[in-house]
Amino acid sequence: MQRRTFVKNTALASAGFAILPAGSLFAETKIKVGIIGVGLRGQNHLELALRRKDVEVVAICDIDDRMLQMSADIIKKFNKPAPKIYKGDPYAWRKLLEQKEIEAVIIATPWEWHASMCIESLDAGKYVGTEVCLGITLEDHWSVVKACERNKGNLMMLENVCYRRDVMAILNMVRLGMFGELIHMQAGYQHDLRNVKLNNGKDAYGGGVEFGEKAFSEARWRTNHSVHRNADLYPTHGIGPVAEMLTINRGNRFLSLNSFSTKSRGLHNIIVEKGGATHPNAKVEFKLGDIVTTQIRCANGETILLQHDTNLPRPYSLGFRVQGTKGLWMDVNRSIYIEGTSAKHDQWEEAKPYLEKYDHPLWQRWSKETEGAGHGGMDFFVLHAFFESVKRKISTPMDVYDAAAWSAITPLSETSIELGNQTVDFPDFTGGGWMYKKTTFALTDDF
Ligand SMILES: NC(=O)c1ccc[n+]([C@@H]2O[C@H](COP(=O)([O-])OP(=O)(O)OC[C@H]3O[C@@H](n4cnc5c(N)ncnc54)[C@H](O)[C@@H]3O)[C@@H](O)[C@H]2O)c1
Repeated sequence: MQRRTFVKNTALASAGFAILPAGSLFAETKIKVGIIGVGLRGQNHLELALRRKDVEVVAICDIDDRMLQMSADIIKKFNKPAPKIYKGDPYAWRKLLEQKEIEAVIIATPWEWHASMCIESLDAGKYVGTEVCLGITLEDHWSVVKACERNKGNLMMLENVCYRRDVMAILNMVRLGMFGELIHMQAGYQHDLRNVKLNNGKDAYGGGVEFGEKAFSEARWRTNHSVHRNADLYPTHGIGPVAEMLTINRGNRFLSLNSFSTKSRGLHNIIVEKGGATHPNAKVEFKLGDIVTTQIRCANGETILLQHDTNLPRPYSLGFRVQGTKGLWMDVNRSIYIEGTSAKHDQWEEAKPYLEKYDHPLWQRWSKETEGAGHGGMDFFVLHAFFESVKRKISTPMDVYDAAAWSAITPLSETSIELGNQTVDFPDFTGGGWMYKKTTFALTDDF
C-alpha cells in the first residue's frame, strides 16, 4: 500500500481512516449517466461529469430550451460525444429512463418533481443521485424509501455541504473525540435569496420582484413555495453535516421536532422597494416567515437547533455550532474552544490551525481535482462519491434513509407551525434498522 505523507499524522490513523492505494482498481471503468434537469444546478453537475474520464453523459432532459442551449455550450467545451436530448414535454424524462445503457441518473429539477422522478428511476433500475430535497410531503419520502427497498436500489441525495472542507475537518475531530461527547448542534440555511446577483453584478432570477413565468431559474418555482408554505423549506445543507457527526440512522436517530416562525416581511418589502407599491406582486401574501427556527431531539440525547433565514439582508452563513462535553466550534466567528487544549481558559481560539491540522484525508488526496468545482470544491466530492459507488456497484455513502430523514424536516416543521408549535414525532424510515446500521460516510481517502 502506497502511503501518503498525511498518514504521518497519527491522529488521522488513530481515527481509523483507511488510506487506499492511489491507482484505483476501478479507474478504467466507464459509467453511462443521464441528467434530468439541466438548469443552473444541473449544468454544474453536467460540467463536473464531463470533466471525468470515467463518466459518459449519454442523455440530458429539460423542458426549457434556454437551459438546453446553455448545456450545449458547456458540452461544446469538451471533446466528447453529444448526449441524446429529451425535451418538449414535462414527462420526456420517462423516455430517458427507457434508455437501457444508462446506469445512473442525476436529478436537478424543482423540488416538486423529485419524488416521482426518483421513484421511476429506481423502478427503471438506475442508481439515483438527486438534488436536495427528496420530495415535498412525508408520503413522498415514504414512497421513495419503499421504491428503493422494492428495487434493492441505491439513492443518494447530493448533499454537498457534507463535504465542505471545514465541516469535514470538524467531523474528523468529532470522530477523534476532541469535543468529548456531543451534546448540542446548530446549523441552518442562512442565505439572503431575495435578490441573488450574478457574477457580473446583474440581478439573477427575478431581481427580487418577479417570480413564476416572468422569472428565470429558481425564481420560476422556488418563490412559490414561500407564497404557500411556512416551514423550514431547505434543511439539508445544515442538517446533513450535523447528522453525519451525530451518526443519525447509524446508532442514533431524530425523535421529534418543533418549529417556530416569525412574521413575513422581507419578500414583500423588496418587491415594494424595487418594483414599487403598485407592482402586482406587492399584493402577494407570503406565508413563509422570515426566520423559521426548529429544535430537534435525538435518540442519544442531543439537541439540534436549525434556522431557515432567506428573506432578510444578511451575509451568508450556515451557522454551524458543534458542541460537546469538552468544547465547541462555531463557523460564524471561525472559532473554537477546547478545554485543556485551548491556551486560555474561557477564551476563543482561531479555528484555522485546527482545520488545517485535522484536514480530512479526502481533501488532501483530491484537492487538485476540486479546483474549479462549485461551492469551493465540495461539489466535486459529492459527485465523486456517487460515481464511485455506481462504478463499484456498491451502496452510496449517504443513502435513501438519510435523504428521507433530512428531508422530513420540512413537512414536519410545516405541521408543527400549523399546530401552534406543537412537538411532532419523526417517522423511522429505517424501520428500526438505525440501531444496527454502520457509518459509511467519508471513512477512507478514496470517496
Ligand atoms: N446543492 C446545492 O448547492 C444546490 C444549489 C442550487 C440548487 N440546488 C437544487 O438543485 C435543484 C435545481 O435547482 P436549480 O437552481 O438548478 O433550478 P433551475 O430552475 O435553474 O433548474 C431546474 C431545471 O429543471 C427543469 N425542469 C423543470 N421541470 C422539468 C421536467 N418536468 N422535466 C425536465 N426538466 C424540468 C427546468 O426547466 C430547469 O432548467 C433544486 O432541488 C435545488 O434546491 C442545490
